[in-house]
Amino acid sequence: MNDFTFYSPTRFVFGRNAEEALVREAPGLGTKILLHYGGGSIKKTGLYDRVKKYLDEAGVGFVELGGVKPNPALSLVREGIDLCRTEGVTGILAVGGGSVIDSAKGIAVGVPYEGDVWDFYTGKEVEAALPIGTILTIPAAGSEVSNGSVVTDEETQSKFYTGSDLIRPKFSLMNPELTYTLPPYQTAAGMVDMITHVMERYFTNTPNVDLTDRFGESIIRTVVKTAPAVLADPEEYEARAQIMWAGTMAHGDHAGLGREQDWASHDIEHELSAQYGVTHGAGLAVIFPAWMTHVWKENPGRFVQFATRVWDIDYVVGEEERIISEAIEKQKAFYRSIGMPVSLSELGISDNRYDIMAEKAMRHGSLGGLKKLTKEDVVEIYRLAAA
Ligand code: NZQ
Ligand code: ZN
Repeated sequence: MNDFTFYSPTRFVFGRNAEEALVREAPGLGTKILLHYGGGSIKKTGLYDRVKKYLDEAGVGFVELGGVKPNPALSLVREGIDLCRTEGVTGILAVGGGSVIDSAKGIAVGVPYEGDVWDFYTGKEVEAALPIGTILTIPAAGSEVSNGSVVTDEETQSKFYTGSDLIRPKFSLMNPELTYTLPPYQTAAGMVDMITHVMERYFTNTPNVDLTDRFGESIIRTVVKTAPAVLADPEEYEARAQIMWAGTMAHGDHAGLGREQDWASHDIEHELSAQYGVTHGAGLAVIFPAWMTHVWKENPGRFVQFATRVWDIDYVVGEEERIISEAIEKQKAFYRSIGMPVSLSELGISDNRYDIMAEKAMRHGSLGGLKKLTKEDVVEIYRLAAA
């Protein structure tokens, strides 16, 4: 197990009516906040009106900026920064999913910075940020707990990441009932994303990480077990609750501490989102199995452990390759069963931009942990994902 430092300061309020805690929590964001949200789901569900009421009760003033799209746009982040400066905003409340929260994080780091906010997504270290709070409406990205933000520059079709403990939310209010209105596709894509967040950590060459392995396995097994119930009855509170907390635990890093992590599949997927506007979780359902197929020979023991513990495949000495490929097939079968694509063609992608996407994914020079990927590896993973 490797050494680590872990800082996770978010206060979580979880359960029915959790959003009411905004009355208590909002003053922690200062006296005038930005209410940031997406394309309108919160207006349809009535959450928007309740949030405004709670802010009034808390005595916290606000300005608002809606319109965050999935794969959030840099242009709206810049607009938010201007608005916050003009209005003297002291903190940001993100009401929505990963896209809204990531956009809020972008605004939060951009306001105190004199240069262009994109600098943080291209390598500059974050030095200051406005405080952020969230009301989560879709369990998926884990941005309600994470130190990351992913934003897309629409002009160059670049979807890049920045990370800093300074952008971890001060509080996240999580009411599983708020997720009842999610369409099945978003519910399923969210489940794939959280499973992948565990697997990006799980597939490592770091030895002696049994505790965190077991924790990760339990998250994946819980999601797989709960998925049918959530899709059969979107208003099944207990199932929604399991999935919602699984999403937070999957990306809160508890399953990844003390080990080298991988994350190649995320970078490879982000190119699909940037080029084709693919839903992040759906892109991962396609890319991760292809990555597994390409890299398992680096550490067969780890893949066999995954196969036996997560997918209950019996271990037979000498049959490692068969066991691993059965696990990959089970993974894909699960994704299909929840309505997710498992190939680029199912995503409607038939042209070949593999070279361009691989180059962009490799922009930092290296990719991956379990196997250090070359550009040729990345192209091969796209090729394996094609059909
Ligand atoms: O915009 P609205 O109208 O709210 O609709 C959204 C959106 O269309 C809808 N939705 C959300 N809650 C709903 C709802 N519809 C009905 N009822 C509700 N309760 O769902 C759609 C998707 O929302 P989005 O926020 O895009 O989903 P998600 O949470 O999956 O976020 C995806 C983004 O997060 C990034 C992804 O790359 C992607 O851009 N990620 C962020 C990470 C982080 N910050 O740590 C890590 C992840 O790996 C990921 O990369
Ligand atoms: Zn993800």
